[in-house]
Parts: sequence; structure tokens; C-alpha cells
Amino acid sequence: MREYIEKAKVLVEALPYIKEFGGITVVIKYGGSALIDEGVRDTILDDIVLMKYVGLKPVVVHGGGKDINVMLDRFGIKSEFVGGLRVTDADAMEVIEMTLSGKLNKELASRLNRHGVAAVGISGKDASLLTTSRKRASDGVDLGFVGEIDAVNPGIIHALIERDFVPVISPVAASASGETHNVNADFAAVAIAGALKAEKLVFLTDVEGVRANAGDKGSVLSRATLGQIGRMIESGAISGGMIPKVMCCVAGVKAGVKNVHILDGRVEHSLILEIFTKEGIGTLIELEARGEKLERA
Ligand SMILES: Nc1ncnc2c1ncn2[C@@H]1O[C@H](COP(=O)(O)OP(=O)(O)OP(=O)(O)O)[C@@H](O)[C@H]1O
Ligand SMILES: [Mg+2]
Repeated sequence: MREYIEKAKVLVEALPYIKEFGGITVVIKYGGSALIDEGVRDTILDDIVLMKYVGLKPVVVHGGGKDINVMLDRFGIKSEFVGGLRVTDADAMEVIEMTLSGKLNKELASRLNRHGVAAVGISGKDASLLTTSRKRASDGVDLGFVGEIDAVNPGIIHALIERDFVPVISPVAASASGETHNVNADFAAVAIAGALKAEKLVFLTDVEGVRANAGDKGSVLSRATLGQIGRMIESGAISGGMIPKVMCCVAGVKAGVKNVHILDGRVEHSLILEIFTKEGIGTLIELEARGEKLERA
């Protein structure tokens, strides 16, 4: 009996959050190895389904760096990273599009469908969702077909949400002249969150959050300010794929997304824990430091 009462308490604890968040748009960037691990992936998909059923509007944007590495290896194509972004030649671009917009996008949509929502997999190319141009790294390095987002046309997302579909978006996009571009999914997520005026933007990744020292598991920051992040990039404490991610968090906060969070996608039900309980997990990005006990958005 006790066990059932505890279960009921958990449900009741979620009630204020369900009431508060009813109808809000949440953009979930899903990447890292959490995307590959089937066991974890299933719990995250359940979380997204639950969010949808209690009245939130989830929009999923996915990455796939780890899958892309496997595929590029299979095709014998080498790739290097500059500032956390993958230098992309024409051959790599083809493999990346097949992996992201083909394999992963369809797999995620299909899995979500099996978990009980009607998910539709699209890419940045569909209905001109994202229009891009070639990006140059800050040190002048030619990144090839890496895209920078010039415009977001969220019509297709609105149309899907209105009809109760859950959009699942691959970040491969095209330029105005039709050149295919590889967009880091973090940038796609924040641009889409801005265009949708989303209240929440969650980055599910494969670390517990932003670490003060990249190599030290125990140094995860429960919140980080814009100033702190700038200093950590400069000192090298934030590196690799975490650089574009934190830059996107900063852009999200500046664009007015109320709640921008980096969460560990390897933890079962990390989304539910963050959205529907008092437990704060991962790293919350904020403009400036506030009191210890942060009001939830
Ligand atoms: N200070 C730091 N704190 C936490 N992680 C860091 C830090 N500096 C670098 N990293 C690295 O950033 C990685 C996360 O970025 P990565 O691009 O690999 O994953 P993702 O963006 O979630 O997935 P994808 O690129 O497939 O969408 C971590 O696995 C970690 O190795
Ligand atoms: Mg990444």
C-alpha cells in the first residue's frame, strides 16, 4: 500500500508543473551518445510522449555526431573539427545527409510513433524551414559545407503542432541556391526555438552538464552565467562540441527563451525529472547569477 501512496505522491508533485506548463512549446535538442543507446533512448521517448499528453508542445531537433563518425569511417572519409564544428567536404556532406535526414531522423520518428505520439520526421530543407549560407570559422578556416542559418521559416512546424504532430527535425539544410549544408544541431535548435518563441530549450547530451574542468566529472555547474561561459571558452575549460552548445545556450537566453538547460541524456527520464519535479539536474544557463534557490520558469 505504502508503495502505491508514494506513486500517487509523485504524480501529485507533478501537478503544479503540468498546470504551469500547459500549452508551452519546448524545443528538445537530442544528441550525443544518448541518441545511440537504445535503453536510454526509450525512456527519453516516453518522456516526450508524456509531455505531449499533458499538454506541452514538444519539438525535437536531433544531432548525430557519433553515428556520422561511424558512417564516415565505413566510407573511409576522414573529418576534423575546428571550434567544435566538423569540417565538411562534398563526400562527407553526402554521408552526413544520409545519416541525419535518412537513417536517424526516420528512426527517431518511427520510434516516437511506436511510443504513442504521431511524430513527423523532416529536415531543415522541408518547406524551407532553414535557409543557410556557408559558415567561416572565426580563424578563417574553410569549413566546407558547414551551414550558418540565415532564416527560419517555422510555418511547417506550426502546421504540424496545430494538427497535434510532434516534429522531429534533422539539421541538414539548403542555401537559397540549393547547396546542401551541414548545420550543427545545437544552432538549428536555438534558431527554431527563437522562431517558435519557445519557453524552454533543453539540450540533451552525453555529459552531466557543463563541467568547470572538462576532465573532472565532479565539477558540474548547476547553473552558469553568460559571463562565466565566455571566460570558460577563453580559458579552454569548455572545448569541442560543448563550445557550440554553450554558445547556443547564450543565444537562446539572449533571444528571450525563459529556460535554457543542458541535461544528461544518458540519465533515465532526465527530461521528466527536469520538467515535472523540484529536482534540478544538469546546468541551467542564465543571464546573471541569482539567489541560490532559483524560481522555476
Ligand atoms: N567543460 C565541459 N563540460 C562538459 N562537456 C565538455 C566540456 N568541454 C568539452 N566537453 C565535451 O562536449 C561533449 C558534448 O558535445 P557533443 O557535440 O560531443 O555532443 P552533442 O552535441 O550532445 O551531440 P551531437 O553533436 O551528436 O548533436 C561532451 O561529451 C564532452 O566531451
Ligand atoms: Mg554537438
